[in-house]
Amino acid sequence: MPEAAPPVEALDEAAALAELTRLADDLAAHDLRYYQDQAPTISDADYDALKRRNNDLETRFPHLVRENSPSLTVGAKRSESFAPVVHGTPMLSLDNAFSDEDAIEFDAKIKRFLRLGDAVVTYTAEPKIDGLSASLLYVDGVLTTGATRGDGRVGEDITANLRTLSEIPHRLAGSGWPKRVEVRGEVYLGHTEFAALNAAAEAAGDKTYANPRNAASGSLRQIDPGITAARPLRFFAYAWGEISAPFAETQSEALTALAAWGFAVTPQTATVHGPEGLLAAYAALEAQRPHLGFDIDGVVYKVDRLDWQDRLGFVSRSPRWAIARKFPAEQARTILEAIDMQVGRTGAVTPVARLRPVTVGGVVVENATLHNADEIARKDVRIGDTVVVQRAGDVIPQIVEVVLAERPADAEPFAYPTHCPCPLSTPLARETTTAGVETVVRRCTGEFACPFQRIEHLKHFVSRRAFDIEGLGVKQLLAFFDEGVIKEPADIFRLARDEAALATLLDRQGYGETSVRNLKASIEARRTIALDRFIFALGVRHIGESTALVLARGYGDVETFLAAMDRVAERDEEAMAELDNFDQVGKAVIEAAAAYFGEDHNRRIVQALKAQLMVLDAERPKTDTAVAGKTVVFTGALERMTRDEAKARAESLGAKVASSVSKKTDIVVAGPGAGSKLKTAAELGLTVLTEDEWLALIG
Ligand code: IVH
Repeated sequence: MPEAAPPVEALDEAAALAELTRLADDLAAHDLRYYQDQAPTISDADYDALKRRNNDLETRFPHLVRENSPSLTVGAKRSESFAPVVHGTPMLSLDNAFSDEDAIEFDAKIKRFLRLGDAVVTYTAEPKIDGLSASLLYVDGVLTTGATRGDGRVGEDITANLRTLSEIPHRLAGSGWPKRVEVRGEVYLGHTEFAALNAAAEAAGDKTYANPRNAASGSLRQIDPGITAARPLRFFAYAWGEISAPFAETQSEALTALAAWGFAVTPQTATVHGPEGLLAAYAALEAQRPHLGFDIDGVVYKVDRLDWQDRLGFVSRSPRWAIARKFPAEQARTILEAIDMQVGRTGAVTPVARLRPVTVGGVVVENATLHNADEIARKDVRIGDTVVVQRAGDVIPQIVEVVLAERPADAEPFAYPTHCPCPLSTPLARETTTAGVETVVRRCTGEFACPFQRIEHLKHFVSRRAFDIEGLGVKQLLAFFDEGVIKEPADIFRLARDEAALATLLDRQGYGETSVRNLKASIEARRTIALDRFIFALGVRHIGESTALVLARGYGDVETFLAAMDRVAERDEEAMAELDNFDQVGKAVIEAAAAYFGEDHNRRIVQALKAQLMVLDAERPKTDTAVAGKTVVFTGALERMTRDEAKARAESLGAKVASSVSKKTDIVVAGPGAGSKLKTAAELGLTVLTEDEWLALIG
């Protein structure tokens, strides 16, 4: 993203759409270079910045989220943590149909292509499950590799995670399976399981997922398969990739075979004939949709005869023999009962529509986003109005329009609050960017003095990725906050050593000796904390986990970090330049740090917290190892450890890990499948090691 990109808030819809389209193309091109050529042309940080920009735009304009958005496609979520897997045959996508006419034309085209005249074509009509596709390679009936779709050609090796799914057999049942077969299907999460997962996350103060698909994706892409195992993910098989021998003559037979091998297949699949059959199957599935217990977003029609599928072949990246008939976005009417202002951790105040609960596509919707004041004014949304709510797949429910004919006579235009709903009632001003552009964001300027923001800060502070204080979930935190026991982070650690205060907990319902002891122990367990977690937990805008890690490694210890931040707040040029020099740090981070540490109140809170803690120094690069100071590039698949692990190990030994090979590279570690990087290394005459040689070198 060029430095000069206008702030997201300053863009209108047309500009956002144009930029989202461009970003989708750029990111797809980068994915291709990364996966296919193994020769990225931008750094991971720059790639992430493009993705962040895409996500920011999508957050601001949720209705512009594309179905193939980089934020939704697995390819965009590439990660160094999983080794690449080249699919035996590519995982393709499907063309879409949106109407009866499209479905009828699909049938007509097939008949034209195959010159079938008046013959009637048989199809399967399968629910289009809204999850994530996965490919499972079985060799001699044994699951050997499980992968994400990735860019369709190269996915990520998530075998360990997929193995934890009870509906994925480790060994194929029955007989008749090819010696080598890639079974394909969809990993998904049912509605009940999704609701339970979110309820648990909420209780623990963790982030909740917007929908089952995101939850399935998040659950599957865990570095620790133990986490995946704890999530009740399910799997439907519906297709196959590479096969060493044919195993069926029709799609219906193939589905029966997959079921016999131990896979779940969708019971709603129908075998239908001709265009009438296609339309009837669509109507039938649409009627069943609210009762299925899992999300589907359409029907997939597939030509049943596999010899015909072969003859029909493919157009670019989709088969001619199949098409996805999509359901329209679900809409429903309901009453807008109130508009509440929500204050986020950083003070951004956003309007939320409170709706009379209504079922939209099988999901009860009670809240919808109203984005910002401009949006409310544009739609002239009034309390008491009947509104049309829409829920499309992944997107948060939206208010599409107001049904003016049903507007109560006394409905008044919504008076947008001029002040924050918090007790400080700070005046809400439109935020302007560093370049002076007015944005649609309104912010409470109360910072830590605003109880709403303080609560959000505290929630962030105890969250899993920050201090991760077990037994101090959002519920307890809110109670402690209301009682004045915990007003700022340091109070949490004071509480653990305040026997009198702890004793008062005992009087309270639900707090027995054991829970008090446990709470105390879990707080004490976090009194010693890594510097990066400490930095992340402060909740400075734009300083996420990875930036926090960069800062921790860069400054080394908490004293140096805080002294540097004070100087940044004073706009000391040298300190600002030093900060700017770090990877991932740009103007936004510098401004946010200066603003945060420029507040006396924040500085006091940080000092009080620090006084309670033992903040560990970040790991210093080692200087006394065989690879200290060397620049290393990993390429191809690693077999003994994940990329992430290899990278972390190399870095802990003082090596610098780079993503592209150049004259500055000292060592290239090449595994199977290494491509252009290996070639470049040979041309440059660099040291190339196998994974085993590398492991021997680092001991
Ligand atoms: S068949 C070559 N069948 O939809 C055809 N796909 O838009 C391969 N999907 O990537 C796909 N349910 O993730 C097929 N019954 C079904 C499906 C299905 C869901 C997903 C799948 C695929 C996407 C294509």
